[in-house]
Amino acid sequence: MLANHRFTDLPAYAQLQAHYDGLKVRHLRDLFAEDPERFNKFTRRFEDILLDFSKNRITADTLDLLVQLAEQAELKNAIGKMFSGDKINRTEDRAVLHVALRNRSNAPILVDGVDVMPDVNAVLDHMKSFTERIRSGEWKGYTGEAITDVVNIGIGGSDLGPVMVTEALKPYADDKKLRVHFVSNVDGVHIYETLQTVKPETTLFLIASKTFTTQETMTNAQTARQWFLEAAKDEAAIAKHFAALSTNQKDVEKFGIDLDNMFGFWDWVGGRYSLWSAIGLSIALYVGFDKFEELLDGAHAMDLHFRDTPLDQNLPVILGLVGIWYNNFFGAQTEAILPYDQYMHRFAAYFQQGDMESNGKSVDRAGHPVDYQTGPIIWGEPGTNGQHAFYQLIHQGTKLIPCDFLAPAVSQRPIGEHHKILMANYFAQTEALMNGKTEAEAAEELRKTGKSEEEIKALTPFKMFSGNRPTNSILFKKLTPYTLGSLIAMYEHKIFTQGVIWDIFSFDQWGVELGKQLASRILPELQDDAPVSSHDSSTNGLMNAFKSMRNE
Ligand code: F6P
Repeated sequence: MLANHRFTDLPAYAQLQAHYDGLKVRHLRDLFAEDPERFNKFTRRFEDILLDFSKNRITADTLDLLVQLAEQAELKNAIGKMFSGDKINRTEDRAVLHVALRNRSNAPILVDGVDVMPDVNAVLDHMKSFTERIRSGEWKGYTGEAITDVVNIGIGGSDLGPVMVTEALKPYADDKKLRVHFVSNVDGVHIYETLQTVKPETTLFLIASKTFTTQETMTNAQTARQWFLEAAKDEAAIAKHFAALSTNQKDVEKFGIDLDNMFGFWDWVGGRYSLWSAIGLSIALYVGFDKFEELLDGAHAMDLHFRDTPLDQNLPVILGLVGIWYNNFFGAQTEAILPYDQYMHRFAAYFQQGDMESNGKSVDRAGHPVDYQTGPIIWGEPGTNGQHAFYQLIHQGTKLIPCDFLAPAVSQRPIGEHHKILMANYFAQTEALMNGKTEAEAAEELRKTGKSEEEIKALTPFKMFSGNRPTNSILFKKLTPYTLGSLIAMYEHKIFTQGVIWDIFSFDQWGVELGKQLASRILPELQDDAPVSSHDSSTNGLMNAFKSMRNE
């Protein structure tokens, strides 16, 4: 179990507060001007990934104090506990072992005294043989045709990871042979539109649900089953077209899925950390099992880096600490993740769940309400699209928004000047956010366009940029499965680092429950036209308006 502490009582917290009072007035421009070595001092490398955190409002003292904060929160000890299968998810009495799913060294990891690795490897073997049979065409559907389309039905962690990774690794797939589709929303539009594009006789459905009880997933799964049986007209054909990725064997059997097509995992795999488990089957089917293994390899390498590297050299730890610096001292509310790689267009959406479901907590590990800020709001879109949408606010708005800029040095699609133009924007944005534009610079620019002194005076306030807006640059060689695995693991461990320091539980998600409970109470009340009066006046009013609109 993780020891409790009060975040704001850690000695380094008060020191950081005092340090912040001195540093908040300093401009990044000046910090760079004072120290030509700043880039070298605040850059760390892990294999093909370079993290430049020099464009942050920090000095060497800040980093020292932040590392002390992590030490005082016993981060190293907590990392050891996670890796050794300790039940650090205390409110659910579970270990947290996504690292075991990619434990390529195979060193034993014990949960309740039992090594989990043989079970992990058995599922991987099952995934491998299944993947090879589907991809080679050896596996035949009920009409004897090979599978051409895989439809993953899942939501949250059983959807976002596979969607993000299959999009990111598209260059490693052959869409002409095998396509993947994802249905998550209970809105019938989602499954309807997907089923328009596939044929029952060549489609494989993966019902991806840790619990196998999630309302959205089970509703979509039943619709898919019905659609399939309308064509196949034989329940025995389900065995050739449905597989389950789940921990719940009983309900998988009840649904009618052949247990040979069930890929299991365990309660110590959190939903939002499950793409490395059987939930990743759609990834393996799409890019091949060897590439799925490379993804696991890259994550494992980052796991070892996180576990074994001193805190001030440790990429996930540094990202976590810099995030805490802005969240808890500068009062930043959000963080943007901005990949300059179109294939990573779902990366921010993925970590919206990863981070916000993990660290969106307001009770500390002792069960007391916290009186400090915890997880930030995570959002983002790929560059350069974001530049023409929301960057205005990042550059000139009233809010401080720390941003991570991610980009590959080598494009998967080197066409003409595209990648250089993309990268010119990548470098330009962080430089502009850091430097801004002074009043004198803005005035001088206007003067060059021939404006009168009066016009210059009137326009200058709008043309100035305060700058001093912090960014991390994460530059990597190429978006290979291995590098993607490392990048995902890096962010996972950043989230872990922050959760430990904030003294919160990062691996439960009780907050999602209330809405689910209320929805299941409301559903029966929508079955007829009887007026509803059991709720507050707004909810009653809306439900009654819905009922009458339906009948108008
Ligand atoms: O959104 C809540 C949640 O429990 C997530 O943590 C999880 O990823 C998602 O629902 C889906 O759950 P399941 O895989 O059990 O269907």
